[in-house]
Amino acid sequence: MNKPRNIIEALRGKVPKEHLAKFRRSFDIVGDVMVFQPVEEMKAYKKELIEAIKLVYPRVRIVLAKKTPLEGEIRVAEYEVWYGKGSYETIHKEYGCIYYLDLTKVFFTPRLSTERSRVCNLVKEGEIVCDLFSGIGPFSILISKKKKPKIVYACDINEYAYNYLRRNIIANRVGDKVKAFLGDAREVAKEKISKKCDRVIMNLPKSAYLFLDAAKEAINPNGGVIHLYTFRREEENFEEKIKSIKQKMKDVGFNNFEILFSKRVREIGPREYNEVLDILVK
Ligand SMILES: C[S@@+](CC[C@H](N)C(=O)[O-])C[C@H]1O[C@@H](n2cnc3c(N)ncnc32)[C@H](O)[C@@H]1O
Repeated sequence: MNKPRNIIEALRGKVPKEHLAKFRRSFDIVGDVMVFQPVEEMKAYKKELIEAIKLVYPRVRIVLAKKTPLEGEIRVAEYEVWYGKGSYETIHKEYGCIYYLDLTKVFFTPRLSTERSRVCNLVKEGEIVCDLFSGIGPFSILISKKKKPKIVYACDINEYAYNYLRRNIIANRVGDKVKAFLGDAREVAKEKISKKCDRVIMNLPKSAYLFLDAAKEAINPNGGVIHLYTFRREEENFEEKIKSIKQKMKDVGFNNFEILFSKRVREIGPREYNEVLDILVK
């Protein structure tokens, strides 16, 4: 028998079809850690699932089941270990960069890799970039490694994320290009970055629009680009959402700007999306 190509294939015949249908697309591999969203019906088939994972992904060392959604300011879920033991820390590779991280302490998703690459490809030589919600550094480090920015300022409020960011800066040898800050984006933008940046990345979709004042502090008064991430449920009207963001831009003092580009980055739940707006500030 051929080796199954994926978990669903490996579970066929062992788990009722209707349960399997619900399981699609819910597995992520981060380094040697597999994370997934358990569906109620699958809990009775834990043994079969672990066997399937071991068969299809023999390098997976730990399997973590999400017990809660991503929570709180630092966007970290609670997990239950379904398989494996040892440290939760792992090393993830993406576009030639390496990232040390522990998903039980910091936010990270491989599902944003294409978006990170898109933003990276827009960066021009000599730019000053600010990654206001940097996490462990996947935007900042990628940009500093693949492009030639003058400097990338990276900021996060989660001390674990900041410590991993510093470790990842060293691991990727970009210490001369990325400057890390631990703290609130608003304070860091005002006190450390003030009005220097050509590009501001705001990857905190749940509430980035509430930090547009921080982007205003960080961005060069002569202009620049903001990458603003949002969440939107399908029933929320896209045009209305844009209108309210434009109003928020005006409220914090952006008088001349243009939305250059918008895109659905990924689906985060049933009829709920993570979207991005690239906003040119003039
Ligand atoms: C959705 S994660 C994105 C992390 C990273 N950009 C990535 O792509 O993996 C948002 C990050 O913002 C951080 N954060 C939340 N509130 C913050 C604040 N007020 N100031 C700075 N960072 C904050 C969280 O700790 C988290 O690491």
